[in-house]
Amino acid sequence: MTPLIAGNWKMFGLKAALAELEALKGAPRGGTEALVCPPATLLAGAAATLAGSGIGVGGQDCHKAPEGAHTGDLSAGMLKDAGASYVILGHSERRRDHGESDALVRAKALAAAGAGLKPIVCVGETIEERNAGREGEVVRAQLAASLPDAAPGGLVIAYEPVWAIGTGLTPTNPQIEAMHALIHAALKARFGVGVRVLYGGSVKPSNAAEIFAVAGVDGALVGGASLKAADFSAIIKAHPAAAA
Ligand code: 13P
Repeated sequence: MTPLIAGNWKMFGLKAALAELEALKGAPRGGTEALVCPPATLLAGAAATLAGSGIGVGGQDCHKAPEGAHTGDLSAGMLKDAGASYVILGHSERRRDHGESDALVRAKALAAAGAGLKPIVCVGETIEERNAGREGEVVRAQLAASLPDAAPGGLVIAYEPVWAIGTGLTPTNPQIEAMHALIHAALKARFGVGVRVLYGGSVKPSNAAEIFAVAGVDGALVGGASLKAADFSAIIKAHPAAAA
């Protein structure tokens, strides 16, 4: 499976930030797939800036309906129309800030698939859940309820332990390996097909190579370190497939 290295810009970036994408275009990527998910206001600009580069753009959320009276929301079809090929769904910040449930994430994944977008569905435990030894149970339940009955085309899962996001903390390699093995096994049992499982949470140039070397890690979902082309391209370069 081609490794996917995706940047989630979250609520960061004005028009001037498109210059970072200009700089990213020339970075060597080898056999990796690179993706940038800017705020929706920059989606069309990012798609135009990256046109022809092979680097994709994605949204950070979509509504579950194809259109309708939903002030302030965006449909999957709108993201696609602006140039997106992927959409991040069920990020823990949306689950926290907007009370998104697994059932809503599932409905959004269906909407994304219906519009031809590949969903990147995020799962991950809190520190309390990990300290209680419940991380496997929590992530299994999130997977069970956040995904449609049939795997959407191009489905990607991002394992993002909530306690590793923006904290500089990362799980140990055996902890990452165990959770990725659990997620791969659950997806294989349910869908019968291989699905890429990304790791996310405090990935940076200094730890990327070590994380990419962990079995079952098919790429990364990078937050803060994706905002600067130099850092993001260093992370891409840290993947063994980048040299291919
Ligand atoms: P950081 O890389 O900033 O920890 O964020 C991870 C993340 O939430 C990506 O979706």
